Amino acid sequence: MARFKRLLVTGAAGRLGSVLREGLAPLAETIRLADRAEMGEAGPNEELVRCELGDFDAVLAMVEGCDAVVHFGAAPVERPWAEILESSIKGGYNVYEAARLHGVKRIVYASSIHAVGYVRREEGADTDTAHRPDGLYGVSKCFVEDLAKLYFHKFGIESACLRINSCFEKPADRRHLATWLSFADLVRLVERCLVAERIGFTVAYGISDNEEVFFSNHKVAHLGYRPQDTAETFRAEVEAQIAPGDPFDPQVEFVGGNFCTMGHPDDD
Ligand SMILES: NC(=O)c1ccc[n+]([C@@H]2O[C@H](COP(=O)([O-])OP(=O)(O)OC[C@H]3O[C@@H](n4cnc5c(N)ncnc54)[C@H](O)[C@@H]3O)[C@@H](O)[C@H]2O)c1
Repeated sequence: MARFKRLLVTGAAGRLGSVLREGLAPLAETIRLADRAEMGEAGPNEELVRCELGDFDAVLAMVEGCDAVVHFGAAPVERPWAEILESSIKGGYNVYEAARLHGVKRIVYASSIHAVGYVRREEGADTDTAHRPDGLYGVSKCFVEDLAKLYFHKFGIESACLRINSCFEKPADRRHLATWLSFADLVRLVERCLVAERIGFTVAYGISDNEEVFFSNHKVAHLGYRPQDTAETFRAEVEAQIAPGDPFDPQVEFVGGNFCTMGHPDDD
């Protein structure tokens, strides 16, 4: 049975938004899909809203009438500061503030591994590890995580901030053998965040059931997330194609991988 009257998914034209569009549909009588980009034809029980996340009035209208929000719209990688500010920081604020004004009770936010990218592999991290962003993109994820914490403690909006690792069809390199999140596990994780009886303010890592992992979800058993895929399925294939990296290369040393060696995005 549908749990929500109207569920909003932002970033719905994107890679992960398209996966959620299909995967979350059974949870809601109506699924409102929002993006500034083209989303194709509306299917049964779908509403399409073209919205610029940096435009507060547009975001206010986008959120109106929704019971819960799955917020995946943002600059999805390291980008120039102006874009990070407008789409991710201002966009994140606009979504939370619109949710407060419209009485939305729960938000699932697409955070990222890059909020803690400067953690060393052998240190590992759990869901209480302090922020250690590896770029402006990571800073934007830290900002919205803290905003989510504020809006829970002050205004009672529950949030799950998902530090998604590497969500692709399959692992593309050796690092992904630890960081991979399958599309099906992404849907499982977001669904649990939406239907678990209480989530309060929760940070969780978006990873499949990989054997080699940098992060621990042992403090978020209350979500009831049970990943069913594993990067091990692809280990032999990946290891045959890609030689091991240098353990002293910062891209191997830190969990953020190549984000840790990128310069400032506004330099030339
Ligand atoms: N793919 C991953 O492995 C991964 C890992 C960590 C976090 N994430 C996060 O998940 C979310 C989705 O990532 P994705 O890989 O699907 O990226 P994507 O680029 O395919 O999708 C992002 C969508 O957001 C929309 N968008 C961006 N700025 C906007 C704005 N100002 N107004 C309206 N819409 C805007 C884009 O049009 C796009 O459709 C992002 O927040 C990303 O940071 C993804």
